[in-house]
Amino acid sequence: MDNRPIGMFDSGVGGLTVYKEIKRKLPNEKIIYLGDTKEFPYGSKSKQNIIELTKKNIEFLLKFNVKLIIIACGTATSQALDVVKEIYRVPIIGIIEPTVDYIKENIDYKNIGIIATRGTIKSNAWEKSIKKKIKNIKIYNKECPLLAPMAEEGWTDNEIAKLTIKEYVKDFPKLDALVLGCTHYPLFEKLIKENIKDTYIINTGKIIASYLEKNLERAENIKNKSDEIYLTDTECNFLVVADKILNENIKINKVEVK
Ligand code: DGL
Repeated sequence: MDNRPIGMFDSGVGGLTVYKEIKRKLPNEKIIYLGDTKEFPYGSKSKQNIIELTKKNIEFLLKFNVKLIIIACGTATSQALDVVKEIYRVPIIGIIEPTVDYIKENIDYKNIGIIATRGTIKSNAWEKSIKKKIKNIKIYNKECPLLAPMAEEGWTDNEIAKLTIKEYVKDFPKLDALVLGCTHYPLFEKLIKENIKDTYIINTGKIIASYLEKNLERAENIKNKSDEIYLTDTECNFLVVADKILNENIKINKVEVK
């Protein structure tokens, strides 16, 4: 048993798609969630900048004596995970490695599409990681820089969202699977499925939750344990979108992360 909390962070509301899946599978865990809304979006920032922000976020979460840190952000995973793993002793996981292992173990795919932020696609982290473990596989990458800002705005099911998704996926050949390589993108899952038929959609939050189910030293069922959600700026639509994702009212705390 390990009753220490799990720490996780994203640039904004996207990481809640991972949070939601973890809560579903591991309801006894206490989670400290940090949304770095002051610095959103991460997808258009330089690698050096992402590394600095990731370090700050990790140092904030370490104050809660967390047993594990989840980088619930594709951009920070792709550009900073390797660096921060060398610096901190706390176990840190990102969204890429467990997803690649899942693809390797579970499915015989030949053509895989990746959609993610510009920073993630530029880093080529998904393709490198997949090709290192799986042979004879074709990867089709597409950066979708508008989707995370639209998700933060709550524009995930309106006419603009429909046209944007259609435009982003129009050049994909017939895919066996499409990886939602940014944690904001599960918010568009319905529209994506309408535009890419007969393709398995990979939601990294679900995979991270299953990974933890197998590998995490669990917490006991402690009464009155509630999660804590911190934001670096509150002048945003976080609560409205969070309510849509989680179907519950949450309380947020404003923090300064140094
Ligand atoms: N949710 C993030 C990701 O998975 C970040 C999006 C952004 O801040 O641009 O990449």
